[in-house]
Amino acid sequence: NHNHNHNHHFRHADSTASPPSSAVAKISHLKAVVLGDAPASEEDDVVLPSHDFSRQALVPSQQKYLEMYKASIENPAGFWSGIASSEFYWKQRWGDQVYSENLDVRRGNIKIEWFKGGITNVCYNCLDRNIDAGLADKIALYWESNEPGFDATLTYSQLLQRVCQLANYLKSVGVRKGDAVVVYLPMLMELPITMLACSRIGAVHSVVFAGFSSESLAQRIVDCKPKVVITCNAVKRGPKTVFLKDIVDAALIDSANKGISVDVCLTYENQLALKREKTKWKEGRDIWWEDVVPKYPTSSDVEWVDAEDPLFLLYTSGSTGKPKGVLHTTGGYMVYTATTFKYAFDYKDSDVYWCTADCGWITGHSYVTYGPMLNGATVLLYEGAPSYPDPGRCWDIVDKYKVTIFYTAPTLVRSLMRDGDEYVTRYSRKSLRVLGSVGEPINPSAWRWFFNVVGGSRCPISDTWWQTETGGFMITPLPGAWPQKPGSATFPFFGIQPVIVDEKGVELGGECSGYLCVKSSWPGAFRTLYGDHERYETTYFKPFPGYYFTGDGCSRDKDGYHWLTGRVDDVINVSGHRIGTAEVESALVSHPQCAEAAVVGVEHQVKGQGIYAFVTPVEGISYSDELRKSLILTVRTQV
Ligand code: WTA
Repeated sequence: NHNHNHNHHFRHADSTASPPSSAVAKISHLKAVVLGDAPASEEDDVVLPSHDFSRQALVPSQQKYLEMYKASIENPAGFWSGIASSEFYWKQRWGDQVYSENLDVRRGNIKIEWFKGGITNVCYNCLDRNIDAGLADKIALYWESNEPGFDATLTYSQLLQRVCQLANYLKSVGVRKGDAVVVYLPMLMELPITMLACSRIGAVHSVVFAGFSSESLAQRIVDCKPKVVITCNAVKRGPKTVFLKDIVDAALIDSANKGISVDVCLTYENQLALKREKTKWKEGRDIWWEDVVPKYPTSSDVEWVDAEDPLFLLYTSGSTGKPKGVLHTTGGYMVYTATTFKYAFDYKDSDVYWCTADCGWITGHSYVTYGPMLNGATVLLYEGAPSYPDPGRCWDIVDKYKVTIFYTAPTLVRSLMRDGDEYVTRYSRKSLRVLGSVGEPINPSAWRWFFNVVGGSRCPISDTWWQTETGGFMITPLPGAWPQKPGSATFPFFGIQPVIVDEKGVELGGECSGYLCVKSSWPGAFRTLYGDHERYETTYFKPFPGYYFTGDGCSRDKDGYHWLTGRVDDVINVSGHRIGTAEVESALVSHPQCAEAAVVGVEHQVKGQGIYAFVTPVEGISYSDELRKSLILTVRTQV
């Protein structure tokens, strides 16, 4: 199956069209069960979509997928501009070129642009446009507290009012188009509100997952130099209270020492976790959200921006200790997240959608906030821990809100699986229609448990493979169209040309295994690493010239299905969270008793991977349990 250089070009064309069509021909030889008929057993190779599911689906057959896929590859400009112009509002249409790209380092700098010259606004498209279309009174957000019994809702028009108030406040403290705003918030409604308010005024949000240490937060503040930091005083995670404001205070001292001082720290008083009287305060810099934001007008002008103006920065781990500021822009990201959300979850207006990811990760950006809101969806936000007060909490929430689409990570599936079926089956879950998985490969036994026990063998699972860098889904089942193989992310989304190459960068055809790359750009692709375009080119485009290199290994089976096998670089994936081995090593060696450290990932039954560190203590110190604990603590506080 190995390819040779001389027929490289021929294989190019072949490999894009062949995986899907070969599957159509060969799938009939596999042992299959039909969705809804019976549980998927270990002998079943595939789960076929049922007639009932397919009939109502946006993409009802393999045939339809193939038609659309072919159109998207043969004419990307036509395919994406058709969607962009019919489903979004543009103040002004883009110029002559729908996109322009250079993904080949041998031909000069890497450049990706989509809809350049088009003028729009993502917040406007999420809120105003949907309200104008009649969704004013539709629930936009359901919020469920960590503590059972506390909840809240916002309709689309209420959400717009909240967003406008914050947008007006941010403008009043001098935040302008292009300015960075660092956000360190837990899963409160104020988090998507903040993201949308930034986008409304053209500010660039940089959300930092509110589980990162003050060192990590400071590092990000120093890198993007925000005018404002937005946080809350504390949050409850399960039975534990986490004092977020203290972490921000430490980060602000740290970044001031490095020359970056922040004028405003807007702090939301999260009353269920901590009263304001108990919050440490720095007069002049710190401002209570509740004291200022509600005083501002509930409507605000939109800052119209170019499709290629930045929407947000999101830092992610790489092979070195320094996190990378992945930059996404406006137009392409908007079109891509909305379209992938709609098709991969077979979205219907009546859906109630719950993604368990935190907005501090890309999944929360693309598939808690932007993708669903652009579709006018009802989104559930859950503040707390998934097993609190007991491992049935998720299904309690599913029943309470009649959740129809449930999107989560394999690590949660495996941990709930270990707690036993009883916690699941005591709830009805009959509202569920589609399940989703993201963050790491889902092993077939976890897939079957998710499918059989959680979904009652009725709900297709969209195992979505993608990355912070890709903005949206890249390889994913379309429920209703494809037979599913447990553990396979199946086939590429529209417009995506995955290729598997060997170590020399030669494309492999047919059944094969190697490094996963992508040929040609797609609207949701990241455009650069903030302040370091060279690192962008070196990390992603130099390893295999001509392609975007994902950092993942992948194999393709004889039916054309893709199987992701995990990272091939120095990134480990712990509970679906990317961690650079170098980040952990540099934390370890900062410990006064540690001379050298080397970190690797080890297989972990629940977390996918665990962290394993080899450590050499300094002269005169020998290994002890105390040293071990103190090293672990160092890593925890620094990372
Ligand atoms: C891994 C998360 C297998 C992969 C959206 C990738 C997956 C990294 C899957 C990106 C999946 C994500 N199957 N592996 N469905 N989804 N990954 O940037 O190794 O936090 O490169 O984005 O997670 O992690 P990131």
